[in-house]
Amino acid sequence: MDKTCKHIVFLTGAGISAESGLSTFRSEDGLWNKHRVEDVATIEAFERQPEYVHQFYNSMRPELFAAQPNAAHLSIARLQKELKQHKISIITQNVDTLHEKAGSNNIYHIHGQINQLVCLQCGHVSETWAEAHSTDVCPNCHTQGNIKPNIVFFGETPLCLDVVDNLLKTCDLFISVGTSGVVYPAAGFVQIAKLYGAETYEFNMEKTSNNYMFDHHIFGKAGSTLPTFIDELIAQYQ
Ligand code: APR
Repeated sequence: MDKTCKHIVFLTGAGISAESGLSTFRSEDGLWNKHRVEDVATIEAFERQPEYVHQFYNSMRPELFAAQPNAAHLSIARLQKELKQHKISIITQNVDTLHEKAGSNNIYHIHGQINQLVCLQCGHVSETWAEAHSTDVCPNCHTQGNIKPNIVFFGETPLCLDVVDNLLKTCDLFISVGTSGVVYPAAGFVQIAKLYGAETYEFNMEKTSNNYMFDHHIFGKAGSTLPTFIDELIAQYQ
């Protein structure tokens, strides 16, 4: 890790929340082995069966509301608190709010958030942990039937990409935690960071699809490996 490091970017995926008890997507018992993506996570599914899609995300909300951050989330929040001279950004693919619950800031949810709804008519985003339905009325434009979970479906453009692009081009250290590296554009973020001079680390339980793009690999459960690594970062840069 270079002494001149001033900007650290984390990219997190479902694996960082696994030790908080939340399902990942592509493991044997993952979400996409229990539900078809084509039924609940595409804009075509939402147009075909909006209430069914709402029910899928309604069923996820109570578990994600109750979930608590684990040592991995807490270690990133600790790093942000300890390294006050550094810019430390979190790009997350996760729709849970565990980084927020851990006390982190500078969080960019590129796939949306489970506790948000968006109106397809006016674009208004509202926050809720309650159930949502296809007959809901938008609190902003007062039209009915345009409310969608603020989750980025396959085929939609991820959020915050303009900000993310700048983060990737200005960071000195890029740290990927708990993502399988199969969904773009997130899976290609490491290449941009590396092209612009960042040192890159991958934290995972196993070799991933884009493993070859990273300079360093730290295998193991993020709840153990990341706090140890972050202790070293704090000791080096404090
Ligand atoms: N510590 C570290 N890594 C872990 C842990 C853990 N405790 N548990 C699981 N992992 C790793 C797995 O090895 C896997 O590589 O986390 C990764 C989870 O991969 P996915 O289930 O594919 O989740 P993710 O990469 O976040 O998916 C990306 O795909 O379906 C879309 O929008 C969805 O944001 C999601 C995107």
